[in-house]
Amino acid sequence: MNTPATPAQEVSVNIADHVSVIRFEREHKKNAFTGQMYDCMSEALQSGDQDEEVRCHLFLGSDGVFSAGNDIQDFIDHGLQQGGLGKEVLQFLRTLVTTEKPLVAGVDGLAIGIGATMLMHCDLVYASDRSFFQTPFVDLGLVPEAASSLLAPRLLGHQKAFSLLALGERLTAEEAERCGMVNKVTNSEDLENIAQAAAQNLGRKPMSALQTTRKLIRGDRASILERIDQEAEHFSTHLATKEAQNAFARFMNKP
Ligand code: COA
Repeated sequence: MNTPATPAQEVSVNIADHVSVIRFEREHKKNAFTGQMYDCMSEALQSGDQDEEVRCHLFLGSDGVFSAGNDIQDFIDHGLQQGGLGKEVLQFLRTLVTTEKPLVAGVDGLAIGIGATMLMHCDLVYASDRSFFQTPFVDLGLVPEAASSLLAPRLLGHQKAFSLLALGERLTAEEAERCGMVNKVTNSEDLENIAQAAAQNLGRKPMSALQTTRKLIRGDRASILERIDQEAEHFSTHLATKEAQNAFARFMNKP
């Protein structure tokens, strides 16, 4: 099945060799995620889980850009409407946790905000050597999302997680590999082939054994879902503050 991205639908889904490739195609906005894109991603994960053809999901971005995170204009709109993170975002985050089939990501270039935190839900992450990971939540007057306040310390240790989530420091691809957030760093030309090969390799494994192994490794889902909801409450409160709205306005009005 191929669902090419249209201008109104900036995520494409292509299934080949048992891999469902979910590609972000909003390059002119650095693949910043809109509500519609979250819906497409949730739908792709849910329908891929139901489809016997699909054995693995693979997230890819575009040349030099994985994702610049949530669309900041949407943050402005949601903040003004007191709407919080938005139901499409929350649905996507919950789907990331409940998806049964393995999640693989190939990151080339910038991965900011949810573009970085969604990777903490992936089972395998490959990154090009020009990639970096950054979550400027606090600088925007916000708090972490996607259960990253739980998953980042587990993955990176307290201090590295704090420098990422609170200080807003960038992690380079090499640092992320050293910390265990990335499996392998490669050059950008080879990145997609390597990520595809890993996803296809997973697709050839005995499904039931693979999915059970994954479930055991990932452990308790309830605490992750609970943290997503806790963070979302704080996120909503912060989204509406003057500090956050001023930070968004500064970004949108930059020369
Ligand atoms: N939301 C909405 N639009 C975004 C965006 C985002 N998260 N990130 C980038 N864009 C838009 C820019 O507004 C710009 O749009 P325009 O061409 O209509 O002016 C376009 O994408 C290109 O971005 P630009 O900032 O010109 O590119 P750059 O190479 O100089 O910088 C980034 C790239 C990603 C470093 C920078 O855009 C950025 O910091 N984005 C915000 C990241 C962020 O804070 N995300 C939220 C985390 S919670």
